[in-house]
Amino acid sequence: MASITLCLINQKGGCGKSSTCFHLAGAFAASGCSVLLIDADPQGSLSQGFMGSDYVENLPGNKTLAAIFDEECFFLDQQQLIQPTGFEGISIVPCNQHLAKFNVPEPEKAGMVQYSVKEFLEQHDNYDVVLIDCPPNLYQCSWNSMIASDYVVIPVPPEDFGTQGLRAVHQAIDNARRLNPGLRRLGHLVTRYDKRLLVHRSYEERLRELYKEMVLDTVVPEASAFKVALACRQPVEYYSSKSAAAERTRDLAAEIVSRIAERNKKRMVGA
Ligand SMILES: Nc1ncnc2c1ncn2[C@@H]1O[C@H](COP(=O)(O)OP(=O)(O)O)[C@@H](O)[C@H]1O
Ligand SMILES: [Mg+2]
Repeated sequence: MASITLCLINQKGGCGKSSTCFHLAGAFAASGCSVLLIDADPQGSLSQGFMGSDYVENLPGNKTLAAIFDEECFFLDQQQLIQPTGFEGISIVPCNQHLAKFNVPEPEKAGMVQYSVKEFLEQHDNYDVVLIDCPPNLYQCSWNSMIASDYVVIPVPPEDFGTQGLRAVHQAIDNARRLNPGLRRLGHLVTRYDKRLLVHRSYEERLRELYKEMVLDTVVPEASAFKVALACRQPVEYYSSKSAAAERTRDLAAEIVSRIAERNKKRMVGA
């Protein structure tokens, strides 16, 4: 499989960005892919999922993603930012509050800093899949992630039809495409879905009407297995591979791969 870099963006918190990155990494790794996770959210939830909150909170800035934004770390060997997670095939560049000061608004005014993640990934390109977890805003960290990515996934919980919020996300993607014309929307991903709730079913229907094929077929259900596995610091694929939650996550990984293959095929025939 050719390497893919994918970021998960939404300016809302709690919509499943970190959870999806965490569990998806497990599904990709179990299928034999090497995965690099970039934690680009100063809250560090993805890092904490693998390494625990005490460890992550105490990491010095020069052991986190913050180092790639920091002039004082210019001569640092960036390879040492990549850490094992304890799961074969999954590595992570962790982060914590040290990243916060670099996550500034108006990211497009930051000059070369806008390319920090992109340059880092160009130097460390020996992974099949790179997943970038973004903060719940569209500041420098999300901006850097979009500039470094091939694809964006927009996780959306099926409530509170704040199309306003989504519009800003799409605007930011369009803006990022000026600097990274290769960036594509892979689609919206319905997360935390409870099929028993009419409001969730109607939301999903409306989203599919609005965005058509730009909504992934796979839906991530609200499932306690995701939470419990995270609390046990294991992607659900490893915690409970037979659970419905693990199965859906494998479906999601497979759909991502097949959508990308489809896109590449169309591009090759010039469609
Ligand atoms: N599909 C899901 N089922 C159950 N709990 C979920 C699901 N997705 C996320 N959560 C939980 O919801 C909370 C917020 O999710 P998170 O992924 O951290 O959101 P975000 O990164 O978008 O802010 C976490 O406690 C997470 O474990
Ligand atoms: Mg998060």
